[in-house]
Amino acid sequence: MAASYLYFDWNATAPPLPEATDAARDAARSYWGNPSSVHAAGREAWAVVERLQQTLAQTVGVDPRDVLLTSGATEANNTALRSAQALVTSRLEHPSVVRVAEHLAKNGIAVVWLEVPADGRLGVSAVRSALAGLPAGAVVAVSAVNHETGIIQPVAEIAEVTRRAGARLHVDAVQALGKVSVELWASGDSIALASHKIRGPKGIGALLWRGASPVPLLLGGDQQRGLRAGTLDAAAAAGFDVALRHAAAGGIDRYAALGPLRDRIEKAVVGLCQVNGSPQHRVAHVTSLSAMGWRSDELVAALDLAGICVSSGSACSAGSVQPSPVVAAMLGPERAASTIRVSIGELTKLGEVDEAIAVLLRILRRHAGLR
Ligand SMILES: Cc1ncc(COP(=O)(O)O)c(C=O)c1O
Repeated sequence: MAASYLYFDWNATAPPLPEATDAARDAARSYWGNPSSVHAAGREAWAVVERLQQTLAQTVGVDPRDVLLTSGATEANNTALRSAQALVTSRLEHPSVVRVAEHLAKNGIAVVWLEVPADGRLGVSAVRSALAGLPAGAVVAVSAVNHETGIIQPVAEIAEVTRRAGARLHVDAVQALGKVSVELWASGDSIALASHKIRGPKGIGALLWRGASPVPLLLGGDQQRGLRAGTLDAAAAAGFDVALRHAAAGGIDRYAALGPLRDRIEKAVVGLCQVNGSPQHRVAHVTSLSAMGWRSDELVAALDLAGICVSSGSACSAGSVQPSPVVAAMLGPERAASTIRVSIGELTKLGEVDEAIAVLLRILRRHAGLR
């Protein structure tokens, strides 16, 4: 069925790669054994899981034994952070980090919230100061590429000051994998990844680490060397593996090449929208736009009615549209209340961008005329 909409919300999830879907379907049919079973059916399924662990380990540069498959990045972030003895993070992070930090703070763990600059790029010296005086076992949690603004954080520099302070760095690299060079995100002591952002299946992600193993979140069987109880899904693993290989084969170039399309959108809305975030330090396929005089939920809905899928940056579990907490942290609640996120991807065509621009301008100008 041909889509009746134009999809400009790649940061929420990416259209599945047909080869990944095929691999997952084939594995679901052929390798349905329990990967933990010792018999032939189990061993076949385990081989699929093991191949994914090896691909992930190779991608990041860790030992394949230091790869945990999870249900996604939410679980990977939770696993990495729930047992922190002290935490340094910021309001720029995904809710799967922010909520954990709030939970830890409620339970008496020291949590330091980094100051968020207006351009959305964290300061390395702020991390250094935050770590001073924190107990041993502190963890710094930072996303390599912000999910709402596309801002690239100085991960390698943060890794350096974190290690000097004897702490560990956890990197949420969900929006960085396959989009920017691995050197920009792989220096963490632990790293969270998700399959569906790189066109693999949903419901699978990974936590990779160097040094100490994570503390398990779940009580149950001894799967994954006792670090994560529960039967593994070889079908999802097969799809994730194919998506990773696709991302490794030129993904960074394909995403970097989207800059002119993103710029075309931003140029078209000059005078109607403001662009949020540091222009020098961001990926090429995302723009965070504040449309003055609009509420983001109204604009998202108006665009949806006209066949354009974008987001406000944060879709809550009830499916309603919330103002962007990231832009609120950078530029205040008023600016956040009028913000939408437009994120494109490797399948986005110039013609689609021009069609979306025409619709966006029609809606923005109509509204401007009414005010
Ligand atoms: C930066 C970031 N971290 C974590 C997540 C959560 O990933 P998952 O949907 O796999 O749980 C997302 C998904 O939106 C994300 O963008």
